[in-house]
Amino acid sequence: MNRIKVKDNIFYIETAASCYVFGIWHGFAEHLYYGAKIPFSDVDVLKEKRSVILVNTLYPADDPTYSIDCKAFEFSLPGRGDSRSSSICLNCDKDPFDFVFDTYYLNSPSDQSPMPLPRKYDESLRVRFVDRIHEGVTLDLVYLVSYDDDVIARYSELYNGGNANIEILKFDSAQTDMLSANKKLVTFHGAWGREMSAVHEKLTAGKYTHGSYSGMSSAECNPLFFVADAGADEDDKEVYGFNLMYSASHEISAEVTPYGGLRILHGLQSENLRYTLRPQQKFTTPCSLSTYSGSGFNKASQNFHDFVRRSVVEQKDVPVMLNTWEAVYFGMDEKKMRTLADKAAQCGFECLVIDDGWFKGRNDDTTSLGDWYEDKKKFPSGLKDLSAYFAEKGLVTGIWIEPEMISEDSDLYREHPDYALKTEGLRKIVGRGQYVLDMTDKRVQRHVEDSVARLVEEYGAGYVKWDFNRRFAETDCTKGSGYFYDYVKGLYSVLARLNKRFPDLIIENCASGGGRFDLGMAYYTACGWASDNTNPLSRAEIQQGVSYGYPVSFTLCHVAASPGHQTMRTSELKDRINTAFFGVFGVQADITKMSDEETDMLKKEISDYKRCRKLLMSSDVYRIMTGEDGYRVTQTLSNDGKRGFLYLMREKFYTDTQLPVIKLKGLKKDSLYSISGQVAEVTASGETFMRAGLILPQNYQGAGRTDQTLMLTDSGTLLLEIKVKE
Ligand code: GLA
Repeated sequence: MNRIKVKDNIFYIETAASCYVFGIWHGFAEHLYYGAKIPFSDVDVLKEKRSVILVNTLYPADDPTYSIDCKAFEFSLPGRGDSRSSSICLNCDKDPFDFVFDTYYLNSPSDQSPMPLPRKYDESLRVRFVDRIHEGVTLDLVYLVSYDDDVIARYSELYNGGNANIEILKFDSAQTDMLSANKKLVTFHGAWGREMSAVHEKLTAGKYTHGSYSGMSSAECNPLFFVADAGADEDDKEVYGFNLMYSASHEISAEVTPYGGLRILHGLQSENLRYTLRPQQKFTTPCSLSTYSGSGFNKASQNFHDFVRRSVVEQKDVPVMLNTWEAVYFGMDEKKMRTLADKAAQCGFECLVIDDGWFKGRNDDTTSLGDWYEDKKKFPSGLKDLSAYFAEKGLVTGIWIEPEMISEDSDLYREHPDYALKTEGLRKIVGRGQYVLDMTDKRVQRHVEDSVARLVEEYGAGYVKWDFNRRFAETDCTKGSGYFYDYVKGLYSVLARLNKRFPDLIIENCASGGGRFDLGMAYYTACGWASDNTNPLSRAEIQQGVSYGYPVSFTLCHVAASPGHQTMRTSELKDRINTAFFGVFGVQADITKMSDEETDMLKKEISDYKRCRKLLMSSDVYRIMTGEDGYRVTQTLSNDGKRGFLYLMREKFYTDTQLPVIKLKGLKKDSLYSISGQVAEVTASGETFMRAGLILPQNYQGAGRTDQTLMLTDSGTLLLEIKVKE
């Protein structure tokens, strides 16, 4: 099927519900339309735009009707009459660059990149521009279309076929110019332990910029963002979603223009980029993704979920795991691990992850990173032996590692101080007692690969938790932020080799929780740890934030102890379990200390979860309430519309208030559904549950109660099952 059509240098890219159109005029790539699908036969109409401004206008010498500042473009360079922010800025001996359209290719075999690209897509378009000033320098814009998911992936490639170095000062992955500016921007902010908090900004005059400048995709600003009609909500109005398949510093900017348009740029951190492209070298930007929904944020998120499941993450069955971090921290030994394994097996866990603290001399966080050998004092019989014990109990062995790091007090540092990233002359800056390794160095890449391989080959790991707990402080102006690009290129190459070498190995992506929770890492790992914060109240918000761009099947959710170690809040086990249900389920607490009653509850939960996890992993997710009046409500529904779950978090209890009526989403109008779980079964048609909604039983009001009274007080949760009655 032709998903990409071309007519008189107008390019039309079609997905199931949207289309993206641009064309070539005066050598420029002019953006014409992105939105709900319109027929290809109408594209000529899109050309006829008012574009003349009378004063202050700049236009090509042969066409005074073509006001450059008013037009929408696919990319822009400074000094060409477009006074908005540019997506590309280059320097070569101070000569200007002037790219003009040359040719295009459909489904070109050269659509490859050192950065991750979608594993699957339907068709591709490569549009080439040549620089009029430097012979041999070309700029390619590449578009990959995933028709069913309504996702278009884009990246750009600069080839230096000249004979002088080009300094790249800015090179965004995508420029999206919109003709209307009455929009809001939704970005995902936070910090450690409070990742993915959605922030809505009404765009007015001027430019809004946010991003990460720490070398990581970061907890401070996830690369995911949305641009939506000012009045858009979860189910209504136009929403454009964007994300990057990239794990280092990045930038998002939205600029309202004086002529009623909007320019959206995203890609690499531009500040201090300074990347040198030598003759005969190519620079490929990280891949940017966009999706369009005509019916609110839920649909845009579902598009991303489908796309990430099909085209980003290599789907693997992630086991139900017990993680030792909050159970024992550094105080682990062979005996404790065996006791945990015994209890884990009884409860139905499938994997035991030995977190930080297992390797030589590691008793706190100040030493030993880099020495990835078992600590003989803690494990006299060795990890191999322990792993065989786990296997007897039916448990996969998981091992934590932070392979991109080095402690000063380590054999690795004593032997190879040069592996650590440094800039001569700068004072040392330390984070969590450690330095980052220089992943651009091939020797370091080999060390990292060998260290992880040893966990699999010598210690029997089937699951590796790959952590990254420190940001960069050695990338001053001399290195430029372009260093981060080379860093992740090195990192990705190691991850790619490991995945090839050990196809069954499951890698978990972690960076002090969600510090690198992005689609670059998702490409190489099976699941991600979205936050260290496991308190249900915090977690309900974090998980809803995550749900805007990342599927349940990628998101690890753990039950931990009460009071929660990050918040010191107490919580009921039931509420922790309900909250962890909407992801890849696990526990990180000392289960040997649980009472019989708690153990039974956990066992039941694990068996319920196993029963429906396949379905849950592939279900659609709907956000029903996102904090309104202190409620967070999320629903899932299987692809056939027959089974789902409903989760409700009541953040704060007030006396004399009623629980909200919950209007379910996506059900089949005429089917009969039953809803049950923590409330007595209710049966009604899909239409009734969607329109009149689910009316929950009476909740406690502050005085008086019966056996039937629901007891949703502070941080109280409900988990209900939705089923079609056959
Ligand atoms: C980070 C991770 C935690 C744990 C510790 C171990 O903080 O996010 O889950 O693995 O490191 O040091």
